[in-house]
Amino acid sequence: MTTGAAAEPPAVGWAILGTANIARAAFVPALRRAGGGSVVAIGTRDPERGRQFAAREAPGARVGTYAEALADEAVRAVYVPLPNHLHREWAIRALEAGRAVLCEKPLGTTVDEVEAIIAAAGRTKGLLWEAFVFSFHPQTDRLRALVAEGAIGDPREILAGFHFRVRSPENIRWSAACRGGALNDVGCYPIHLARLLFDAEPETAWAVRRHDGHEVEAELQGMVRFPGGRRLLFTCGLERAYDAEARVLGTEGAVRLSNPYHPDAADVVELQRGSVLTRERVGGDQPSFTPAIRHVHAVLAGEAAPAHGAAQDALGTARAMEMVRSAAARGD
Ligand SMILES: NC(=O)c1ccc[n+]([C@@H]2O[C@H](COP(=O)([O-])OP(=O)(O)OC[C@H]3O[C@@H](n4cnc5c(N)ncnc54)[C@H](OP(=O)(O)O)[C@@H]3O)[C@@H](O)[C@H]2O)c1
Repeated sequence: MTTGAAAEPPAVGWAILGTANIARAAFVPALRRAGGGSVVAIGTRDPERGRQFAAREAPGARVGTYAEALADEAVRAVYVPLPNHLHREWAIRALEAGRAVLCEKPLGTTVDEVEAIIAAAGRTKGLLWEAFVFSFHPQTDRLRALVAEGAIGDPREILAGFHFRVRSPENIRWSAACRGGALNDVGCYPIHLARLLFDAEPETAWAVRRHDGHEVEAELQGMVRFPGGRRLLFTCGLERAYDAEARVLGTEGAVRLSNPYHPDAADVVELQRGSVLTRERVGGDQPSFTPAIRHVHAVLAGEAAPAHGAAQDALGTARAMEMVRSAAARGD
């Protein structure tokens, strides 16, 4: 009879494509906290930049081109934090290399692109997630539970904003070629949140946008209508101080999240019913990417069924974004 503990599943080898800021600031620290995996390969256009990134963020990781990183035999999962216009090509190539893929949002910048990536996942029987990591976060579970148990009655409206200030004119967010702009960068979050929370697909959208001299929209405000008269009213942009607050308003009360997408230890979930206000903090003591990475590891270890996969979650958001974009273009 053996008395030892069950064997640990093998650690997941990750490749990162691109020495991206989000990889350094969010993915790598979250992977460290998640445990069960490490960065073994870094793909880059510039080997020297890749070596410096590896030395700082993932000592021992091999540095090569994007294609070499995908081909590395130790790689089981690939994180794609490339500019938006490259998601389609590299998510598909990673799937075709037989890797599980966590691709940055938006998965694609048109419905056609998203359909092509999802088709590749189907063809290769691959695992594919869009990095709306809040879908996996316990704070989102708490919000969904509050709504499901009727804490605010019938949820009628979501008021949400996501703004931050992008100072450098060189930033990919200001580039049309990289498919930047407020909607692709931050507006996609409230739309994804509303679809998740209403568990429905939008019917119509209305929007206005301002370019403020940029080649992509600097700000956009919109309304997305869901079945039954439910609606999302949202504002997004690249010119204001950081703010990502969302409120879900129902027939009996309201929930406010100070940051639904990337909560930290200071962020709160507030429930207001009449004059009673309750406040809690849920899961903000860990990097916001950590629950999503743990999920990928659990699926690869055969310990969990895939949840929030792109095949189920991504197309509706892409369609809603296209509705919003078309509505904004009509008002230009
Ligand atoms: N989920 C989230 O919370 C979150 C947060 C921020 C950003 N994002 C997403 O993550 C992606 C990257 O954002 P980021 O702010 O980290 O971008 P970034 O710092 O500019 O990094 C993008 C990387 O892509 C590579 N690249 C390839 N072609 C490029 C080109 N033509 N121009 C610029 N870089 C190019 C570069 O790496 P090499 O030169 O080494 O190849 C670069 O470091 C975007 O899709 C964004 O929407 C997600």
